[in-house]
Amino acid sequence: MNAVPHDHAAEAVAEGAERRWAIVVGAILLLLVAMMVVTGVHWAAMPPSRVETVDIKTLHIAGEFVESNLGTAVDADGKVTVRLVAQQYSFQPQCLVVPADTPVTFRATSTDAIHGFVIGTTNANTMLVPGFVSTFTTSFHQPGMALMPCHEYCGTGHEAMWAHVLVLSQDDFRARARGVERLSCVPR
Ligand code: CUA
Repeated sequence: MNAVPHDHAAEAVAEGAERRWAIVVGAILLLLVAMMVVTGVHWAAMPPSRVETVDIKTLHIAGEFVESNLGTAVDADGKVTVRLVAQQYSFQPQCLVVPADTPVTFRATSTDAIHGFVIGTTNANTMLVPGFVSTFTTSFHQPGMALMPCHEYCGTGHEAMWAHVLVLSQDDFRARARGVERLSCVPR
């Protein structure tokens, strides 16, 4: 019976290969952590931090998300809140108005499937889940019209589901909001 000879050369090759893999895996981990830090700090990523529920059966009849309460509201103390509802396959309102360089709080929900939206190249980005209120606060720095597409696959009409966001200078926004309870840029 021949014992298998101890092959030092093969052992060295295996060790070298394992070391290279360990370096590659370590580099991938570092890259992923760096991506999380960069998106978190530079893009101010907003992870969900709370749970707020809403009854989808009564959404259209009473409460915060009735049609007449959707759009942009300016409180007495100057706080700006945008309320919207997503359904297959549109957002309501279809055109939102917000002031530039001002904190804007979004409150939104869905009536049917899971939807979501992102606004232009800003960090305004959320999922909309039936029965839950999604909310976040952000500021817009670039006046103009931005596209707001649905970014969760929600059915056959998904790719045609979007709204627009009109970012106005603070003066233009103030002039437009004067005497109006709920603001939008939907043509009447
Ligand atoms: Cu709504 Cu995709």
